[in-house]
Amino acid sequence: MNVTEIDDDALADAYNLGLDLEKAGDIEGAEREYRKVLALDPSDPAGVGIRLAALGRVPTPEKMPDAYVATLFDQHADVFDDILVEQLGYCVPLLLREKIRQLGLGPFESLLDLGCGTGLTGVAFADCADQLTGVDLSEKIVEHAFDREVYDDLYVGEAVAFLQEFEEDDGTVPSYSFIAATDVFPYLGDAGAMVSGAAARLNPNGYFAFSTESLTASGEAGPSFVVGAKKRFAHRLDYLEQLLRTHGFKTLVADPITVRLEDGEPVPGHLVIAQLSAAA
Ligand SMILES: C[S@@+](CC[C@H](N)C(=O)[O-])C[C@H]1O[C@@H](n2cnc3c(N)ncnc32)[C@H](O)[C@@H]1O
Repeated sequence: MNVTEIDDDALADAYNLGLDLEKAGDIEGAEREYRKVLALDPSDPAGVGIRLAALGRVPTPEKMPDAYVATLFDQHADVFDDILVEQLGYCVPLLLREKIRQLGLGPFESLLDLGCGTGLTGVAFADCADQLTGVDLSEKIVEHAFDREVYDDLYVGEAVAFLQEFEEDDGTVPSYSFIAATDVFPYLGDAGAMVSGAAARLNPNGYFAFSTESLTASGEAGPSFVVGAKKRFAHRLDYLEQLLRTHGFKTLVADPITVRLEDGEPVPGHLVIAQLSAAA
C-alpha cells in the first residue's frame, strides 16, 4: 500500500498563520499559507479551498470538500443545537413542516433526510412520515441523530453518492415519497447532481424540499452560485428552478425565508418544495 504521510504540524502552522494573516488583512500572505495547506493535504479537511474562493483567489469550487464538512460537523456536533437553534435562531425544519401542513401534504410513506445533522428535520416530521431515513457526512452528528430515536435508518455518507448508489443489503434500491435537505445546499455549489439524484430516488409524484441561502446580486449574466464571506454557498433561485424543471419537477413553493442570524443580521434564503411529475 502506498501511504503518504501528512505533516500535521506543518499543516497546522500554515493554516494558523494563514488565518492570522487573513484577519490582519494580508490577503497575499494568507493565500500563500492556504496554498501550502492544500499542497500538504489535498483532501482539504481544513477547508482552505473554500477560504481561497471566498477571498476570490480561486474559481468557485463545485462543492465543499467532504473531508472539510465531516471535520467541521464532527467538531461542532456536541454544540450544534445550542449554537444553531438557540443562538442563531435556526428553524428551517419547523418552517418546512409548517409549510407542508399548510399545503395539506402528507403523511408520507418514506422520508429521506439528506444532511440530517442532529435530526431536527426528523423530529419535525416524525408525526407525518412512516419510515424515516437519515444520511450525513459527519459520524459524530449522526450519533446525535441516533439519540433522537426518530429515524428508522441512519447512514454516514455523502448525500449525492447516497442518492446515486445506495442499495439495501439484499440489492433492492429504495425510493422515497419525500426527500428533504434542510440547510445542506450551502455546502454544495453545483446542485445539478443533487437535483437529478433526488429525481431518480423519488417515487412518482414524490416531493423534494430544501432550503438555500440566496444569491440575489449577481445579475442576469452572473454566476449561479458563489462562496459568500461566511464560507457558505449562496444560490440563485432562477438557477435552482431551472434545474428542477430540467429534472421533471414542478416547483410548488419558493418562499423567501430567514435561514438564521449571522452577527445579528438575518441571512436571506429560500424554502423550496417541488413535486416530481409522475411521468419524469
Ligand atoms: C447546517 S447542518 C443542517 C442539518 C439538518 N439538516 C438541520 O436542518 O438541522 C448541515 C448538515 O449537512 C451535512 N452535509 C453537508 N454536506 C453534505 C453532503 N454533501 N453529504 C451529506 N451530508 C452533508 C453536514 O454534515 C451537516 O450535518
